[in-house]
Amino acid sequence: MAAEAPVIAVIVAVAANGVIGRDGDMPWRLSTDLKRFKALTLSHPVIMGRKTFDSVGKPLPGRLNIVVTRDHDWQAEGALAVGSLGAALELATAHLESFEPDPAAPDAEAPNTIFVAGGGQIYAQAMALADMLHVTHVEADIDGDTVFPAIDETVWHATHEERVPAGERDSHATRYVVWERG
Ligand SMILES: NC(=O)c1ccc[n+]([C@@H]2O[C@H](COP(=O)([O-])OP(=O)(O)OC[C@H]3O[C@@H](n4cnc5c(N)ncnc54)[C@H](OP(=O)(O)O)[C@@H]3O)[C@@H](O)[C@H]2O)c1
Repeated sequence: MAAEAPVIAVIVAVAANGVIGRDGDMPWRLSTDLKRFKALTLSHPVIMGRKTFDSVGKPLPGRLNIVVTRDHDWQAEGALAVGSLGAALELATAHLESFEPDPAAPDAEAPNTIFVAGGGQIYAQAMALADMLHVTHVEADIDGDTVFPAIDETVWHATHEERVPAGERDSHATRYVVWERG
C-alpha cells in the first residue's frame, strides 16, 4: 500500500510587520507559544536552517532534527545535516515511512507531518512547498533583521483562529492561526 504523502507544515511566530528574529534570536519571550510548539512538533521530524539550530543551541528532544547547511563538514550531536531543503524533506519523509509503533503504545497514530521551523531563509524556500502554516501572530510591530514572507490570502485561508492573552511569562498577546492552502 502506498504511504500517504506527508503534510508539510511551517511553524512560526511572526510580528505584525513580518519580523521573526533579531541578532540571531527571537525578539520576544513567549513561553505559552513554546509549549504549543513542543506539543505540536513532538515525535515529528523538524527541519531548520543552520542558523536557527545554532540559535536554539541543542537538538529538540523527542524529534528528528534535520539541519540544512551548505557546509559539508557541519555536524552536531543529535542532528542530521543535509545540503538543501529538498534533501531535508526527503529524509523526513523516509523517516516517517520507517515509523515503527512503540510496543508500549501500539495504537498511537503514526506521525505524518514534517515541521519546517525556520528561520527566515528556510521559510522563504518552504512557502511554495508547504501544505499548512501554524502561525503565532504577535500583535505588535517589532524591530528585527529577519522576516517571514507575507501570507498571501489568495493562496492561504485560515481554518482555525484563537486569541491567546499574554500569560505571566509572555511578552505579548498573540493570535494563533492555522492557515491551509486553497
Ligand atoms: N519567530 C520564529 O518562529 C522563528 C523561528 C526560527 C528562527 N527564527 C529566527 O530566525 C533567525 C534565523 O534565520 P536566518 O534566516 O538568519 O537563518 P536560517 O534560515 O535559520 O539558516 C540559514 C542557514 O541555512 C542554510 N541554508 C539556507 N538555505 C540553504 C540552501 N538552499 N541550501 C543549503 N543550506 C541552506 C545556510 O547554512 P550555512 O551557513 O551553514 O551554509 C544558511 O546560512 C534567528 O533570529 C532566529 O531566532 C525565528
